[in-house]
Amino acid sequence: MKWKEALKEMEPYKPGRSIEEVKDLYKLKEVVKLASNENPYGCATSVMEFLKSPSMPFQIYPDGHATNLRSKLATKYNVDDSSILFGNGSDEIISIISRALLRENTHTIMPAPTFPQYAHNAKIEGADITEIPLVDGLHDLNAFLSAVNDRTAVIWICNPNNPTGNLIPNDVLTKFLREVPRNILVVLDEAYFEYVTDPNHIDLVRLLNQFPNIIILRTFSKAYGLAAFRLGYAIGSPSVITELNKVRNPFNNNSLALAVANVALEDDGFIEECRRKNEVQRERFKSYASLNGLHVYDTQTNFVLMEVPCDADEASEFLLKNGFIVRSGNALGTPMHVRITIGTEEQNTGIFLAFDLLLKEKGR
Ligand SMILES: Cc1ncc(COP(=O)(O)O)c(C=O)c1O
Repeated sequence: MKWKEALKEMEPYKPGRSIEEVKDLYKLKEVVKLASNENPYGCATSVMEFLKSPSMPFQIYPDGHATNLRSKLATKYNVDDSSILFGNGSDEIISIISRALLRENTHTIMPAPTFPQYAHNAKIEGADITEIPLVDGLHDLNAFLSAVNDRTAVIWICNPNNPTGNLIPNDVLTKFLREVPRNILVVLDEAYFEYVTDPNHIDLVRLLNQFPNIIILRTFSKAYGLAAFRLGYAIGSPSVITELNKVRNPFNNNSLALAVANVALEDDGFIEECRRKNEVQRERFKSYASLNGLHVYDTQTNFVLMEVPCDADEASEFLLKNGFIVRSGNALGTPMHVRITIGTEEQNTGIFLAFDLLLKEKGR
């Protein structure tokens, strides 16, 4: 068959080990998954209540315009309805953007390491990719500017960045945006926006009027605790959103997901509570790292990228045997580190104990 050239060198997405798999493998009663940056507190009680008896006609296609959710988000962010695009997770928005703008002989720029779906989708479309190494976990935006050429179509910014968690200071970001040619789409992926507590961080939606070539990606998968429903959205200039909408599948969000997100959006209290609890637990990780002389990136998210005293795969396997699933930095481009989702107080106490055992075994 006449597959795209690019597919020859690519691998299908490999999901991490599931809780059940690890329980079976190591004969464990209790396993905690801290590998995919999900919300350890679940989702809002109002969502759980709604899910007891959702009433909707399942024989009818979903509202392909997501009318209610669209209008709620438009009000929340004070933007026009036509400024919003919904995706089956922000994953799908990344693929819509790539499909609409990237092809052979186009060029795209992204940090490294970062969320792998930017490169994955760009490869499928056959675009040339320039990866700009992070500097101390931060995007090197001057190097991004130097890499721009007349074929550059999309620049990917992950803010805060996955897997490091660092946030770009506003002034650095706005200076960069002023210098990027207006015919390049700058994607600002803010999947972890709700977890940011840096008081200096502004809501980047405010920059849209000034920079019509930016698009902001957010998701219901992280702080809202709704990863299973696959719902993400983008906020951009209506002219950009109109083009992207041409690529979107007509019914890409299911009715239940749209209804659930509507309920979730009513509950700001849940998000605030999760942000506050996460911040307290995040500080515990930073203290643990500093107490034990382990490097940790300055995260503003619900995960930490922490140094380990041995090869990252070995450390992950050790933690796995002790009942904790984390992501090895070897797979993320950050050797000698593991990425750990910040859990509940109890879960974190558990992983610190497992970490103590690891440090002891390695003579630290
Ligand atoms: C930076 C970043 N962007 C996008 C996504 C995808 O999220 P979604 O569940 O909305 O597809 C993730 C998920 O881990 C992420 O870390």
